[in-house]
Amino acid sequence: AVWLNDFLGPTIRKSKFKDILIFGNDDQRYSFPAWFKDMNRTRLGVLDYLDGLAVHWYWDEMFAPTLIDLTAQLLPGKIVLNTESCIGDKPWQTHGPELGSWERGEMYASSFLHNLQHSYNGWIDWNIVLDEQGGPNYAENYVDAPVIVNATNRAEIYKQPIFYAMGHFSKFVPEGSVRIDAKILSASVEAVAFKRPDERIAVVLLNSGRIPMDVLLIDSVRGEIVINIPAQSWHTIVYN
Ligand SMILES: *[C@@H]1O[C@H](CO)[C@@H](O)[C@H](O)[C@H]1NC(C)=O
Ligand SMILES: *[C@@H]1O[C@H](CO)[C@@H](O)[C@H](O)[C@H]1NC(C)=O
Repeated sequence: AVWLNDFLGPTIRKSKFKDILIFGNDDQRYSFPAWFKDMNRTRLGVLDYLDGLAVHWYWDEMFAPTLIDLTAQLLPGKIVLNTESCIGDKPWQTHGPELGSWERGEMYASSFLHNLQHSYNGWIDWNIVLDEQGGPNYAENYVDAPVIVNATNRAEIYKQPIFYAMGHFSKFVPEGSVRIDAKILSASVEAVAFKRPDERIAVVLLNSGRIPMDVLLIDSVRGEIVINIPAQSWHTIVYN
């Protein structure tokens, strides 16, 4: 609060870089919204310098996205971005890539879906590309990534299931899409829906269960369709 209010904020806003977006926090859900209330108590008005709220995903399994909804209600108009995610940081995880891990892909798909059902506007992953060890990393903090390069032969890349999980959102839900209400009447299949800038609807579906499901997709305006969703799979349906 002190740094942003007394130094960084006024300096940036008075400079030729005034349009740079400033994000606050850059830490876990559990620090939301208390962190921003503290900032506000320390320097009244400091939150006006913030364009957005930055949140990391590491303890999302223990702290619900409602913390982010609460913060977004408290600070309307701020952009909410996940600004760091990766798998392999926890003691019980493989510290580095697991080539072809659909389980890890599902962790991403599920996280995107849950984040976007709440107040998140977007997502920045920590690493787009890493080597087979999950580096290079000077702190020896080796993790997984959507794309792994073979740094030995320098001739191969491996597109991980994480890459495809990401694609369901980055490819089919383009910038400028708006989330629309999707009521889910089944406990086993999760969904999030968007109206895209081209007026088409994109519905991302995730079946993390172990049995296939017939999903009845009802669009109150555009009609209905039944789609079979295999066990442990994710899908995007784009329609006019
Ligand atoms: C900031 O503090 C003021 C004064 O106490 C209060 O009116 C306002 O609601 C606070 N805003 C937030 C976002 O906490
Ligand atoms: C990377 O390339 C080396 C040398 O060709 C090869 O021995 C190794 O198996 C490759 N790694 C993977 C994950 O395929």
